Amino acid sequence: MDYFIETLALDKQQTDCLIIGLYENQQLSPSAIEIDGLNQGLIAQLIKRGDVTGKNAETLLINYLPDSSVDRILLVGLGKKEKLTAKLYRKALVSAITALKALKIKSASSCLTDIEVKGYDSSWKVRQIIEVFNDAIYLFSETKSIKEPIIELEKIAITVAEEIKAQSEAGLKQGIAIANGIDLTKFLADLPGNICTPAYLAERATSIAASSKNMTVEVLEESDMEKLGMGSFLSVSRGSRQPAKLIVLNYQGGNKGDKPIVFVGKGLTFDAGGISLKPGAGMDEMKYDMCGGASVLATLQAAAEMELAVNIVGIVPSSENMPDGDANKPGDVVTSMAGLTIEILNTDAEGRLILCDALTYAKKFDPEVVIDLATLTGACLVALGRVPSGLLGNDDALCNDLIQSSETACDSLWRLPLWEEYQEQLKSNFADLANIGGRDAGTITAACFLSRFTEDYRWAHLDIAGTAWRSGGSNKGATGRPVPLLSQYLIDRTNARS
Ligand code: BES
Ligand code: MN
Ligand code: ZN
Repeated sequence: MDYFIETLALDKQQTDCLIIGLYENQQLSPSAIEIDGLNQGLIAQLIKRGDVTGKNAETLLINYLPDSSVDRILLVGLGKKEKLTAKLYRKALVSAITALKALKIKSASSCLTDIEVKGYDSSWKVRQIIEVFNDAIYLFSETKSIKEPIIELEKIAITVAEEIKAQSEAGLKQGIAIANGIDLTKFLADLPGNICTPAYLAERATSIAASSKNMTVEVLEESDMEKLGMGSFLSVSRGSRQPAKLIVLNYQGGNKGDKPIVFVGKGLTFDAGGISLKPGAGMDEMKYDMCGGASVLATLQAAAEMELAVNIVGIVPSSENMPDGDANKPGDVVTSMAGLTIEILNTDAEGRLILCDALTYAKKFDPEVVIDLATLTGACLVALGRVPSGLLGNDDALCNDLIQSSETACDSLWRLPLWEEYQEQLKSNFADLANIGGRDAGTITAACFLSRFTEDYRWAHLDIAGTAWRSGGSNKGATGRPVPLLSQYLIDRTNARS
């Protein structure tokens, strides 16, 4: 899709469809007033007749305008002007793109940047338009021989007033980069496990690095990890025929000496559970157990595309978790790179086993902060559903920064406690710690496990088990979260520095 900023007056635009916002209670947006004036009070008449009320997410298509260069107008309800929140703004955007997708048109022009959303500037609105529209347009057809008909829409203009052109262009660049990152994450997660293997992810990382002059990649093989003593990570991959990879992307957008922000993403390209085998129903979805890793690759790609002045390292431990004669067995004890021994009481708690060694490896980069993201626990879905990602960490300032960025990005987080009382649950009779903490507080005990390997730096953990994927039905597939949040966090950090 081609997104661009347009500053032409509405009566000068050549477009198949203009998208205009409409409030409830007959309040017109600036562009609605203009269209009304250009078309003999058309909108006022439609409101009077009761054909449109402006209720949030309502749409009305006017598909014939006798004396206009514009072929169609899509009216989009916003709800009450004074109650328009970021969430309602996004809801209206979803309804707009849903209506557009049903039309046989090639171009559209959105005038929805003239809507006031308290606390947000036009650059944010441009970004939201691109992110929401692009999300709705995404279609996975890589593994279908009969490709579904793709929509004809090719160009989306984002109309803004001349005074805010520069700000809007900045939003455009960010919006496109983030949308590309979301697309990449969705694509990699939707790919089946027999195609998207650890080696495949490493290849993709290599091509991301090649497309930016500020990025390098290093892929550690199992023999390298053995030398580093990553006994925990390697114990998971031993049960798989696919060799594990430790992918490291390094983006140098900031000053040479600046400490990097380090992201660590769980890259389980398929999680069968290992010897503690998962039940069959829904097991196919465990191909998305690499969403943390994909989001890391995609966020670095987005950062490079936005040319952010910050140093970032992305670490993706990638493996499969399979049942096999050589796989981990319940009761096995392994030694992590940090030297801590781990009793594996359940081989399905494998994410933490690969992450702990990657988190130890992260120290080498002398990080400013370390943020790991992982589809780590089913318990997170039970606790928080699919709305926010779970957030836990050892540093309040870092957690608060992340929460603030998550609100701006509309990619929400909810913090859970990481109190020492919970560490009790990880006690083992046979090793320094166990890899599971029993039924209670599963998301917290998983984070407690990780916290034992992150004591030397400021650290936050995002559990994205619920938010990275839409389950079941025709909507089934990856969401691309938390790429918007991480990208926003990076934007906010670079703004805070300059
Ligand atoms: N990848 C799963 C977690 C998961 C479950 C993600 C559902 C998305 C949806 C993880 O490796 C896992 O299996 N966790 C276990 C941990 C348990 C054995 C302590 C779980 O959540 O059941
Ligand atoms: Mn598992
Ligand atoms: Zn897993």
